[in-house]
Amino acid sequence: MNILITGTSKGIGAALAMKYLEKGHKVFGISRSANAKLNANDNFTFLSLDLSDFKKVKEKLPPFIQQAGNMGLVILNAGILNEIKDLKDTPIEEIKNVMDVNVWVNKIIVDICFDMLEKVDQVVAISSGAAVSGSRGWNAYSLSKAALNMLIDLYAKEHTTTHFSAIAPGIIDTGMQDYISSLPDTLDYPAVKKLKKAKNTPDMPPPGEVSEKLVNAFEKALNYKSGSFLDVREFL
Ligand SMILES: NC(=O)c1ccc[n+]([C@@H]2O[C@H](COP(=O)([O-])OP(=O)(O)OC[C@H]3O[C@@H](n4cnc5c(N)ncnc54)[C@H](OP(=O)(O)O)[C@@H]3O)[C@@H](O)[C@H]2O)c1
Repeated sequence: MNILITGTSKGIGAALAMKYLEKGHKVFGISRSANAKLNANDNFTFLSLDLSDFKKVKEKLPPFIQQAGNMGLVILNAGILNEIKDLKDTPIEEIKNVMDVNVWVNKIIVDICFDMLEKVDQVVAISSGAAVSGSRGWNAYSLSKAALNMLIDLYAKEHTTTHFSAIAPGIIDTGMQDYISSLPDTLDYPAVKKLKKAKNTPDMPPPGEVSEKLVNAFEKALNYKSGSFLDVREFL
């Protein structure tokens, strides 16, 4: 099948793209920087795009996905974590930037997919436990993932022949976690302490080790009501 994945240069998106290519699927990947290993695969098509630039997304995404005709799966994975700090210290502009990449561009992508493609079977948005945990310090990131969950729930009611889910992938050792583990011990937030403790342990596997599990989770998600928020730590 054809699979569209955002954020394929590294981390979870790169590992998922590689896993789906190994399984013989065609992957359409988007990120600002390229991933040489993925680009070397004939079944991988890449678009370099800054997803915070909505004008460019509206211009470049339609011709990119039109060549596919239909998508078996759309994975809205690209995301950013801003500085961990209290919400009161987080300027609105910073929150807006996070919302643009983690939420609003996903509305644009979903709308373009349904305008341009004959059929979209499944849409999975990569969410986070932070969408519901309300952990101190997670400011804009938590707000964005909570809004993403609702975006998915709302679209599920509009596009009733497509399955939608927002899935928290668990704790995975990527660039995001490198930032968290670099935070000073003086930053006394419980969630930061928990993640720093998990780093370099089996509790925080690298993306290549969990990609198969995530692929299974996306398949299993089809058994749940469209629009659901699911956490792999609870439903797998
Ligand atoms: N790692 C975890 O423990 C964890 C836990 C829960 C949820 N998540 C979620 O999982 C998803 C993937 O995160 P990750 O951990 O794999 O992070 P990562 O290693 O930092 O990868 C993020 C990906 O998003 C892309 N991206 C970021 N900003 C972009 C932009 N403006 N335009 C285009 N692409 C952009 C990056 O590509 P470029 O920089 O090349 O553009 C990169 O490919 C995110 O939605 C994150 O919130 C991760």
